[in-house]
Amino acid sequence: MDKTIINDYVTKNKERVLNELLELLRIPSVSADSTYKKDVLKTAEAVKQRLAEAGADKVEVSQTKGFPVVYGEKIIDPKKPTILVYGHYDVQPADPLELWDSPPFEPVIKKTALHPQGAIFARGSCDDKGQMYMHVKAFELMMKTNTLPCNVKFMIEGEEEVGSPSLGDWIVENRQKLKADVILISDTSMIGHETPSIDTGLRGLAYMEVEVDGPNRDLHSGVYGGGVANPINILCKMIAGCHDENNHITIPGFYDKVQELSKEYREALNKAPFNLNDFKKDLGVEEVAGEKGFTTAERTGIRPTLDVNGIWGGYIGEGAKTVLPSKAFAKISMRLVPDQNSTEISNMFQKYFESIAPKTVKVKVTAHHGGEPVVVSVESAGYKAAEMAMTETFGKKPLPTRGGGSIPIVALFKKELGLDSILLGFGLDTDALHSPNEHYGLFNYYKGIETIPLFYKYYTQLTSK
Ligand code: BES
Ligand code: MN
Ligand code: MN
Repeated sequence: MDKTIINDYVTKNKERVLNELLELLRIPSVSADSTYKKDVLKTAEAVKQRLAEAGADKVEVSQTKGFPVVYGEKIIDPKKPTILVYGHYDVQPADPLELWDSPPFEPVIKKTALHPQGAIFARGSCDDKGQMYMHVKAFELMMKTNTLPCNVKFMIEGEEEVGSPSLGDWIVENRQKLKADVILISDTSMIGHETPSIDTGLRGLAYMEVEVDGPNRDLHSGVYGGGVANPINILCKMIAGCHDENNHITIPGFYDKVQELSKEYREALNKAPFNLNDFKKDLGVEEVAGEKGFTTAERTGIRPTLDVNGIWGGYIGEGAKTVLPSKAFAKISMRLVPDQNSTEISNMFQKYFESIAPKTVKVKVTAHHGGEPVVVSVESAGYKAAEMAMTETFGKKPLPTRGGGSIPIVALFKKELGLDSILLGFGLDTDALHSPNEHYGLFNYYKGIETIPLFYKYYTQLTSK
């Protein structure tokens, strides 16, 4: 596999490879919203079709209890290593729609300060259709140029954005079919176009919903106000009670299993280029916030968090209605780090939340999806191959970093298949994933297509005796 072969292929196919991605982005595959069910299924069929066209065998849309997994493979020689590519074809809901500068499912290309060559604006452009499709095109490149050095299997799922509820069972049922040596995923970020990096960890997640019940009906806030507990007031106090003045989380036992990292590790993490002023400017905030004693890179990478994702109750319509609400609700997520466990943390949260509730209200706590944190060894052949591949295409050695997001299935890949995942991500944190105006740089898209075949090459070299 030669860089000129790669560059020639990409140059010759530049427009087609882009237009195909734009086609995929036009299908609104929102897994969280059942009104899009048909579109999610249509996307699965489209991905299957593209995999087949690229040269994969045994392509199928494989049923799960929820949305299907698209599978395909190319086995050139059972003695050669096998790379299992994972990605997701589902996307986050696009709302609030009014904050998009162009419709979320009508991709347009525009230049931005960080993407002077242009970026594709559409829901899913970066997370994860754009990054997933790089793998299909890199595979096509290797097939068409006769340079595929090893075996490859694809599993592209449709429920990542809702916590992959059906995928755990599916991988157990398909254990045999998924036999591989390493998992390759592009669904994370790198530092910048000039600063390649590879995530060596992901945070876990425990997602909770709470309900605080007060009086049996909404009340006149004048007639009853002051005489009965207001569930929203109480809920706010309880949430505020989850952090102390140093922004440490107050749930008993919460930090017991948190790995304290060495001074050297933290120093290395903090050496990665990071401009606090740019960070603040991008987000429009005067000051950053977080756990005392940790830098922003540490707070978002190696430390656990507790955040309210949504809170509601009472009157939120136009004007003012004087009402003392009967109920209050909140959705609360906790990002976890090694060796925290999502079930343990969910239980701790529930106990704590119930314990701090005054007798004036009733509290219901339910757990939504969870996922476990993961770390990737920089000593593994997979990491080294990724490092070599990026060094070649970027002309610079990538830095190991830690991703703050979660991909719940990665821990299950380790547990159920015994496989490490390599997080070869090409997005930028500022690409507005999950936000209005999500975009993905053309530079990043093509760089990904160019880098992936080199990963195959180096991984095969490093693991062949
Ligand atoms: N691709 C992201 C995760 C990600 C993004 C990791 C950037 C590292 C850097 C993924 O699609 C995602 O959004 N995951 C969810 C998981 C949840 C829905 C269970 C997340 O992190 O909130
Ligand atoms: Mn993703
Ligand atoms: Mn996502």
